Amino acid sequence: MQRKIAVVGTGYVGLTTGACLATLGHQVVCADIDAAKVERLRAGEVDILEPGLADLVQRGLRTGRLRFVVGASAAVEPDTDVLFLCVPTPMGVDGSADLRAVVSVLGEVRDILPPGCAVATKSTVPVGTADRLAMMVGSPIVSNPEFLREGTAVDDFLHPDRIVVGSSDRSAARKVGELYQGLQAPTLILDAASAEMVKYAANCFLAVKLSYVNAIAQLCDRVGADVLAVTEGMGYDPRIGRSFLKPGPGWGGSCLPKDANALVHVAESVGLEFPLLRSAIEQNQRQLDEVLDRVRQACDGTLRGARIGLLGLAFKAGTNDLRDSPAIRIADALAAEGAEITAHDPAISGELPGIRLVDDPYEAVKGAVVVLVLTEWPEFRSLDWTRVAELMDGFTVLDTRNLLDGDLLSRAGLTWRGMGRPC
Ligand code: UGA
Repeated sequence: MQRKIAVVGTGYVGLTTGACLATLGHQVVCADIDAAKVERLRAGEVDILEPGLADLVQRGLRTGRLRFVVGASAAVEPDTDVLFLCVPTPMGVDGSADLRAVVSVLGEVRDILPPGCAVATKSTVPVGTADRLAMMVGSPIVSNPEFLREGTAVDDFLHPDRIVVGSSDRSAARKVGELYQGLQAPTLILDAASAEMVKYAANCFLAVKLSYVNAIAQLCDRVGADVLAVTEGMGYDPRIGRSFLKPGPGWGGSCLPKDANALVHVAESVGLEFPLLRSAIEQNQRQLDEVLDRVRQACDGTLRGARIGLLGLAFKAGTNDLRDSPAIRIADALAAEGAEITAHDPAISGELPGIRLVDDPYEAVKGAVVVLVLTEWPEFRSLDWTRVAELMDGFTVLDTRNLLDGDLLSRAGLTWRGMGRPC
């Protein structure tokens, strides 16, 4: 059934939700407080790098199924069936989720919500929030967590593993679940707290898995094993699975770090220690320290005045998102010890504090004592490594993503070092 939908917030979650729901045949109005951004979206311009999203936005605008307005209240109409909250819930100072944007939007629309309109939260919110917000607005709130990965958000939306909806009002939950009827995926209708918990539990499980794999990589380095062989051997076990087993410079992005800290906070707020998750967060810092140690070693112990070339700054390939990017944390830490940083990322241009950002990867490596690969952009594989060797001042390439062919680099006269891999 075609529904009238309002989506508040046009970040990668809100915009993907709005554009994909319009593609499924619903009438969608997306709202943002940023008037200039709304103007660009009306012209079909999408700021974020998200494959397929600009096409869907433009198609939605052409068919008239997708509109953009400034401000949440402008998106709510007398016949709106569902309002989605897709506003940020950043990490507060104590690690908890900051709900000010969610509360502010609800305050704005509370008095104009039509009777029977379901309000759904896509924003990741602490367990119990849906029920608390329902009391505030006097309408049912449905938790409908998203499982979209940046860089593949459109595909993830249109081919979901599962749809999760939860509310104390089952009919409101069903109404939200039915919006996805065109998609072939199991739909779980839960209570609100369980739906909210699914999102945290899933993201934090991924964080724990990655910290585990990063720790195994550190161990492989010390005992002379190859983490690629080890994870291949692990991944055949269906209980473990093959995905999310790649070591790296640490996990980042706008979701995993924020959600891991928030869940520790949720646990503490009910008097429960969660040492496993705390350790996963600590291990993520250790992984970063491991990378810094290796750079120091390659620079004979001191970074003062050392030229370091960085390839990749985004928190993962396929996005231009720098939020909580391990690459930025590494760049900042190196610069704090006196290193001079030049960086190239195919998706990032402009100015960044403390980093000389260049458009050409060869410019980034020129004069560098050490080159670090920090984002797994496939184009780095096909660089001319002989030319890189000629341009560099030193020999070491620290491949924190195990992206490159070590033999090829050796033949070019470079010393390749991966994570958890024999040299
Ligand atoms: C994550 C979840 O994967 C999504 O399911 C979830 O919907 C989303 O958060 C969210 O909460 O909105 P995303 O932040 O886009 O998605 O990034 P991931 O693909 O999960 O990667 C997270 C971090 O782990 C990145 O820094 C990435 O480089 C790192 N990673 C991932 C590895 O180091 N190794 C891997 O094998 C996989």
